[in-house]
Amino acid sequence: MAFATALEKAEMIAAQFDYSDDELRKCVRKFLSQMDGGLRERTPAMCQIPTYVTRVAQGTEKGQALGVDLGGTNLRVCLVTLHGDSSYHAVHSKVSLPSRIMLAYEAADLFGFMAEQIEALLRTHCPDQFGVSENVAILSLGLTFSFPVYQNAIDSGILLRWTKGFDIPSVVGQDVCELLQHEIALRSLPVKVTALVNDAAGTIMSRAYSLPRGETRTTIGTIFGTGTNGVYLEKLSEISKPLDGHFDESSGKMFISIEWGSFDNELSVLPNTEYDVEINQFSRNPGDQMFEKRVSGMFLGELLRTILAKLYVDPTVRLFGGIDANTGLMTGNPIPLHTRWAVDSSILSIAEFDGTDNLETLRQKIFDALRVPPSSIGIEDAQVVKIIAHAIAKRAARLGGMALGAVVTKTEQLGSVGSRSQDACVLGPSEADGHQPCLVDVGVDGSVIEFYPRFEVYMREALRAVDGIGTAGERLIRMGLAKDGSSVGAAIIALVAAQQTYEAP
Ligand code: GLC
Repeated sequence: MAFATALEKAEMIAAQFDYSDDELRKCVRKFLSQMDGGLRERTPAMCQIPTYVTRVAQGTEKGQALGVDLGGTNLRVCLVTLHGDSSYHAVHSKVSLPSRIMLAYEAADLFGFMAEQIEALLRTHCPDQFGVSENVAILSLGLTFSFPVYQNAIDSGILLRWTKGFDIPSVVGQDVCELLQHEIALRSLPVKVTALVNDAAGTIMSRAYSLPRGETRTTIGTIFGTGTNGVYLEKLSEISKPLDGHFDESSGKMFISIEWGSFDNELSVLPNTEYDVEINQFSRNPGDQMFEKRVSGMFLGELLRTILAKLYVDPTVRLFGGIDANTGLMTGNPIPLHTRWAVDSSILSIAEFDGTDNLETLRQKIFDALRVPPSSIGIEDAQVVKIIAHAIAKRAARLGGMALGAVVTKTEQLGSVGSRSQDACVLGPSEADGHQPCLVDVGVDGSVIEFYPRFEVYMREALRAVDGIGTAGERLIRMGLAKDGSSVGAAIIALVAAQQTYEAP
């Protein structure tokens, strides 16, 4: 049970997470300038990686391909059959990644593990592909590798650095497609890696494929999961850094993976509380991915835990009863409340979701996630958790809205709608061609945006504050969840890359 000042203290901490419209607009300006810098320089921190995907799926693509998605927490493998009518059939497997793989010594540990999962899926669903050495159809594979990989071509890319919880130093600087193809060859699997894909790009493709014909196609993809990133369609004329590999230039555009997790690593405009400083200091990559550390699922739970652990030892608060009054020491094995990185972000969603007076569900979650004894979790303690969790998540969502707002601004898709009335846009000239006027379609994926109840609401609040978007522009931004989009999207990109039959967006 916390002291009476606990709620006041919680409100004071929450206030440190306020992120005003003015700060947001400052961030948008810097974001736009870093986007421009990334289109000129090869690999600045926010590195604007060319994806070599130049057209968006139309829903007419047909065939079968594999998608392999190495995310922050899970490895998904899926075999996708596209029917060519915006529908598909997919069989999936999903394993959570053991830390011995995420922190392995040899590249082969990770890529061998991936090849084993591919083999297992194929043996279950395509047993005919084995045992016959001739006339076996080679399956195209799209590898979703959700880390900063600098692409030289649609099917090759060099890992620049690890993010999220991964650290296998020997992979940095290597071509991740070659590493996977090598392990596939060792197992004689009938599979060729034909595309390297960022998860946000996969999200765009799977959503665009599934949209009904005639609908405005998806041009932006965002991930708010363990990590965060955005991909958008850029004009080739805007990309002045060299594009090494071959690609079809006829659309005049290419999808760019922003790697916005590293926006403002120098912290000139991002909000920075003492808790952000601590998280960064104890992370695997201090000074790197500073935007991601304020927005993505890997860090939101840890931010909350850091604050709660401080309130536990604060004698004026004594959250959850605080330190033992007699000894002043904690005894026994440290519970997750006192263990770095032991709490995931799902507690924030539950805190937002539980609107009951006695916060029963949240108190149960506090017990499950923080392992605080139930007798020490009073209603006030749960209220403290709720206030702080809300502040952390709202700031994350507003930062996410800021980034999306900057990207929408950069693509100029809304024209001057932000400064026009809603009616002017709806009745605008583009209505005649059968497309919904001025609509910007955004594919989203990731546990944070999927499960945090008001994440999109707060993102939209932020979008309305962006110069040139406003209320009228925000209404024209359509967001749709592309669940498991990154693995399905990777298969689509792989198939299309192998067949080279993209159609114009
Ligand atoms: C990290 C990765 C990025 C990925 C994002 C979302 O920020 O660097 O490539 O898209 O996480 O998974």
